[in-house]
Amino acid sequence: MDKIHSLTGMLDHYDDGDIENISVKIFETEKRIKKVFTNYKYSEIRTPALEDTNLFVRSAGDASDIVNKEIYSFNDRNEKNIALRPEGTASAIRAIIEKKLDQTNHKLWYLGPMWRYERPQKGRYRQFYQAGVEILGYEEGAPEYEIISMVCSIIEEFKLKNCSIKINHLGDKESKKLFCDALVEYLEPFKDSLDEKDLTRLTKNPLRVLDSKNKETQSILKKAPSIREFIKPSALSLLENIQNEYKDICNIEIDYTLVRGLDYYSGFVFEAISSELGAQDSFLGGGRYDHLSLKLGGKNLPSIGMAIGVERFASLIKDITTSNKVVSFITLTSNLESKPYKIAHQLRSLNSNIILDLQLSDGSLKSKLRKANKNNSEYAIIIGEEELRDGTAVIKFLNDELKDQETVSIEELFSFYTSL
Ligand code: HAM
Repeated sequence: MDKIHSLTGMLDHYDDGDIENISVKIFETEKRIKKVFTNYKYSEIRTPALEDTNLFVRSAGDASDIVNKEIYSFNDRNEKNIALRPEGTASAIRAIIEKKLDQTNHKLWYLGPMWRYERPQKGRYRQFYQAGVEILGYEEGAPEYEIISMVCSIIEEFKLKNCSIKINHLGDKESKKLFCDALVEYLEPFKDSLDEKDLTRLTKNPLRVLDSKNKETQSILKKAPSIREFIKPSALSLLENIQNEYKDICNIEIDYTLVRGLDYYSGFVFEAISSELGAQDSFLGGGRYDHLSLKLGGKNLPSIGMAIGVERFASLIKDITTSNKVVSFITLTSNLESKPYKIAHQLRSLNSNIILDLQLSDGSLKSKLRKANKNNSEYAIIIGEEELRDGTAVIKFLNDELKDQETVSIEELFSFYTSL
């Protein structure tokens, strides 16, 4: 019978214990990013994968690529048009409005799959994971510092190299409009040189022309007016202050050409990029979206947020060894011999900081030790027929050049394990 394959651009991830494997890095990334979120005292929000398609049309905007060509939408059995969420912000705001919590402040985090019908390539998938935060109900100021602090903490936590944070300010409604008018006026004489996509952007959301991938457009834009000339002094000093406060921790640049791919942004925006990622170099993006709640039928709720692309982020991590020690528990007795399993249970309850990998498979000592090395075990505890008979265990020191192994009583094993 024909085999059934996974869909294009949708990956399976499996933790095989090999720390070089991208899936293992993804799971570790998720675990540690969640820890940063909770250490900053954010609360989890979990929304459905499927939503009314209008939610994304109204929030991301009908000029955005996400809505124009990337959305996974279809009619359900009741002829209602629904979509797999392409991002998490709109759903979070929808949920807060629906729960009538849109008059108070919130600090939220989420982690889950998103879907965009893109042309798959390295770092670009049709199903991918985002870990994001949304800070709701606070005006410009403190949340901008908090969110950049969090981005720096995450970069530090994973010791990422070769990355930088780009920041910009899209201005308030008035300055954004003045800038867009100036941009349209500047581009008017070049209209014949713009491709169809940029011409559409010019009429629907002129700011998005700045994000054009077309080389000719980019060279025309070199002499275009800069948003720097239109934003208020308070916006300029916000950018400079953020850069000054965090530049000793992370590489931060002000980039006046940075615009984001979704229409809901207003004010402060940012992206983190890495030179190690190739064409899809942005592993995190976000910004302020003060008008989204009103647009979705809620109260005035000034907000800011960001999302990390988990696959891209994980591919940047070099070393995922954690502070928790790993120990392998190897039995060489018959599979049905129950005693060793009880010893493993006792060890686990003696020291919960240790990750104890009880190897369930049959196999030679050699293959089991190979597995122990692969999963980064510092020690292997080995119990065979002889140890079982004598009430002992062998502790093998896998990372110690001077010490090979030691036979100890079960009591000694317990004290050794407790002291790790
Ligand atoms: P975004 O820039 O569209 O922003 O996506 C955030 C991150 O998701 C990107 O920087 C990238 O790392 C990752 N990403 C996007 N598309 C793909 C893909 N096809 N494959 C793999 N990774 C991808 C947002 O989604 C906003 N909701 C962020 C936000 C939250 N703004 C305010 N709050």
